[in-house]
This record gives sequence, C-alpha cells and structure tokens, in this order.
Amino acid sequence: MDLSVLVLPGDGIGTEVTREAVRVLRRVAEKWHHSLRLSEGLLGGAAIHQTGTPLPEQTVRLATAADATLMGAVGLPEFDNAPPDRRPEKGLLGIRRALGVYANLRPVKAYASLLDSSPLKNPLVEGTDMIIVRELTGGIYYGTPRGITEAGGETRAVNTMTYTRAEIERVSRVAFHLARARRKKVTSVDKSNVLENSQLWRRVVTELGGEYPDVALDHMLVDNCAMQLILSPRRFDVVLTENMFGDILSDEGAVLAGSIGMLPSASIGDRRPSGAWVGLYEPVHGSAPDIAGQNKANPLGAIGSVAAMLAYSFGLREESSAVERAVETVLDTGTVTADLRPSGAPATTEQVGRAVCAAIG
Ligand code: IPM
Ligand code: MG
Repeated sequence: MDLSVLVLPGDGIGTEVTREAVRVLRRVAEKWHHSLRLSEGLLGGAAIHQTGTPLPEQTVRLATAADATLMGAVGLPEFDNAPPDRRPEKGLLGIRRALGVYANLRPVKAYASLLDSSPLKNPLVEGTDMIIVRELTGGIYYGTPRGITEAGGETRAVNTMTYTRAEIERVSRVAFHLARARRKKVTSVDKSNVLENSQLWRRVVTELGGEYPDVALDHMLVDNCAMQLILSPRRFDVVLTENMFGDILSDEGAVLAGSIGMLPSASIGDRRPSGAWVGLYEPVHGSAPDIAGQNKANPLGAIGSVAAMLAYSFGLREESSAVERAVETVLDTGTVTADLRPSGAPATTEQVGRAVCAAIG
C-alpha cells in the first residue's frame, strides 16, 4: 500500500516524540512492504518563527494532499501573551478545522504493567478501558462572537458556545459506531442542568440513540463525570462529549493511564472522495517546554497515534495491532521514561522508540 503521511512535529517535545513515532512508522512500512511517502510541515510556534503565522497555507495544502497527518504538539511559553492570531494553539485549531476532523478519539486504558504508575489505588484503576469521543471542530473553541473589548470604562471578554443539530449528530454517530465494536455502551456528558447548548446536545443524542437500540445510552453531567472517572472508571465504555468538556476530561483520563504521555489520539472527519478517512493523529499531551530537548519525553502517546493512523486512515488492522502489542511488550520489560516511574533507571525517548521497533520485529 502507498502511505502518504504529513508530519508536523510542532514545538517542544513534539519534535522528539514524532521522531520516534516516525521511526515506528518506517519499521512497519519496511516489515509489511508498504511504500511510505513522508512530508514535513510547519505548525505552531515553529511556524510563527519561520513564517510569522502559526498555520502557513503551505501546511494546509500539504495536509489536504496527504492521506494522514501526524502531529507532535504545539505551544511555547514565549507566546503566552501574544495576540490570539499569533498563538501556536491557533495553528492547531486551524488545522483541525481545515481538515474537518470533528471527532477526536482518545482511548484511555490502564495497562496491567503500569498499574503502579497511576497515583490512584490499583483496584480502582485496574481494567479501565474507555474511549473518549470529543467533538473537535465546534463549541466554545470556535464560537463567535468572541474577543476582549473595552467599552464605557469596562473591559469585557466573551466566548460563545454554539452547536447545531448536524454537528452533534455526526460526532454522536461516530460514538455509537465505536460502541458497537466494543462493550455497546455510550455515556453522553453535558451540563444540561445549566446550559441550553447542552440541552440540545442531550436531546439530539437521545433521539439518535433510538437508531442504535443495541447500544445502551446514559447521560451524565460533566461535574459528576469528573468525579465518576476517578471513583469508578470501569463503568465507562464510550464517553461522548463536546469540545471543551472533552479537553478537560481527557486530561483526567491520563491519570488513569499512568501518565498523559501514554495517551494517543485520532481525529477523524468524513471520507474523502477517494474513500480514505481524513485523519489527524496527535498525542494528547502538550509541548512540555520544561523537559524539551532532553530526550526524556514519553513517545508512547505519539507511537499509539501511529497505531491509530494505521487502523483508521489506512485500514491496516494487523500492522496497527502489532504496534499496540509492541507497546505492551515494551511496558512489560520496563523500558519506560521517567513519567511512568520505573523501578530502575528511566529510558530515554529514543530508547523507548527503538525498543518498540525491536518488539515489532
Ligand atoms: C488538546 C490540547 C489543545 C486543546 C490545546 C493545545 C489547544 O489541550 O489537544 O487537548 O485544547 O484542544
Ligand atoms: Mg487538552
């Protein structure tokens, strides 16, 4: 198969973890005789430095031309006080929107060999296996009006949370479909006791649920969900929620998985006319400028994102499972970075990447 992949290393540890993810992708291509065409583009702070904008047009062109995009992370402290259009994060939101990847899938799994890495009690976390389906191209992240204004001696900031029925429907369908291949349970998370936006969300999800009678649907308020994720994580199978709630809950999920460095993500949209699913693959973690350039970031979230890419964008199930199994093997051998609190000396980013390649065989 011909795999054309755009790599956007981005900022901070993004460059280090994507290097290892690409190493794994090359190993897979070699072993299963796929031809891999890699291109590289600029996004985030790195793009601002070189072109003055966080999402150069060239990057959008490359991403639209590629079958799939692998991203590292964006964000640098030097831009913390920059105006909105010159912030690295704007580039990430821009490319998600440009590709139309409205469903962000964030699996949260407690690996047996990592139970001691979670700060939570083992019996609570053990057996956790859920996937958060986060709406990614709507809601308060994109709603207008937005901005900070000065009027009548007062400074005011406004953001708008907005969803249409169609936006809620398409991401919900992704959640119901995923549930069918799992434990057949969807928990939709909202704040419908306060927000009209969530009232529409709940109504649309409930209506759609009628089309999937084999899938059990329940609803949970987001504050309660934040608590239940820690109290009884095993009760969750597919968690469906809007953009900002999903952003927050998925970081909480990271505590269950031992470290945020473990979490992969796949953002998918509709099918291209060619039949390929549009996909943007990125670890859930950020650019972690404090540990950047030290070869100690955990590349497994990025490597897991490669496994997701192989499955979702290319339909290569065998290759994808092989990467996932290799990750488990490496976890079992204890070749892990410092965030996973190994008993011996922590491995470097590169050592973990090479170990995964070796385990693929
Ligand atoms: C994430 C990140 C991004 C988000 C930031 C970097 C804009 O936190 O992917 O979870 O909020 O979506
Ligand atoms: Mg986040």
